[in-house]
Amino acid sequence: MLQITDLKKIFQAGDMKIAAVNGVSFIVEQGEFASIVGRSGSGKTTLMSLIGGLDKPTEGSIKLDGRNIAQLHDHALIDYRCKQIGFIFQAYNLIPNLTALENVMLPMEAAKVPTPQRKERALELLRQVGLSSDQMKRKPGRLSGGQQQRIAVARALANNPVLLLADEPTGNLDSNTGEMIFELLRDLAHKQKTTVIIVTHDLSMARQTDVVLRLKDGKLIGG
Ligand SMILES: Nc1ncnc2c1ncn2[C@@H]1O[C@H](COP(=O)(O)OP(=O)(O)OP(=O)(O)O)[C@@H](O)[C@H]1O
Ligand SMILES: [Mg+2]
Repeated sequence: MLQITDLKKIFQAGDMKIAAVNGVSFIVEQGEFASIVGRSGSGKTTLMSLIGGLDKPTEGSIKLDGRNIAQLHDHALIDYRCKQIGFIFQAYNLIPNLTALENVMLPMEAAKVPTPQRKERALELLRQVGLSSDQMKRKPGRLSGGQQQRIAVARALANNPVLLLADEPTGNLDSNTGEMIFELLRDLAHKQKTTVIIVTHDLSMARQTDVVLRLKDGKLIGG
């Protein structure tokens, strides 16, 4: 379970203080599929970065299965990001000169998984997201946007994360392809019990999730 309490992130820009996340509290249960919606600048990416340990909050707590991420020191935070969290971004963020398979093997290298197991698991994950054996050998530039995002999903799952964070994962895709990635993420939550949080601009997608978190000026608004 993810429990966020009174979370704040204040950025200092010269003399200005920007409260990007301004007192946010919510709970997402294990295996739930949650969405974060809100206008540009409402704090969605900042909130995701805090939950994923990419940035540290100014105040408040982030508890994943009872452990407060906000208090972790650098080493523990790197370990948390690597082993507990999977990230998916709008722009796929794959390594262009590695094949699909090598991209998925990479996080397991960081987690010191032995090479034969890395390859076996990467193949299994790529099959699971629907890539063919031929596509697995190609570099991202030779695959479609939807196929690249499938690789990114497989890569995010490589180290068996407890929590998958996806910031506008369908933002660069046409609506059909976007719908497929959305369904893939929903199945991960509901069938594999990986908690998934997605940021989306698409309200019809958000409505199909278990929990909708609406952000406005760094605060959650009702409904
Ligand atoms: N590193 C930073 N330094 C200063 N201000 C920042 C920083 N990162 C974000 N902000 C500010 O915090 C606010 C929230 O930004 P954030 O990126 O979280 O919004 P968002 O909801 O993800 O927007 P979008 O839909 O455009 O991606 C904005 O006002 C932004 O300018
Ligand atoms: Mg954003």
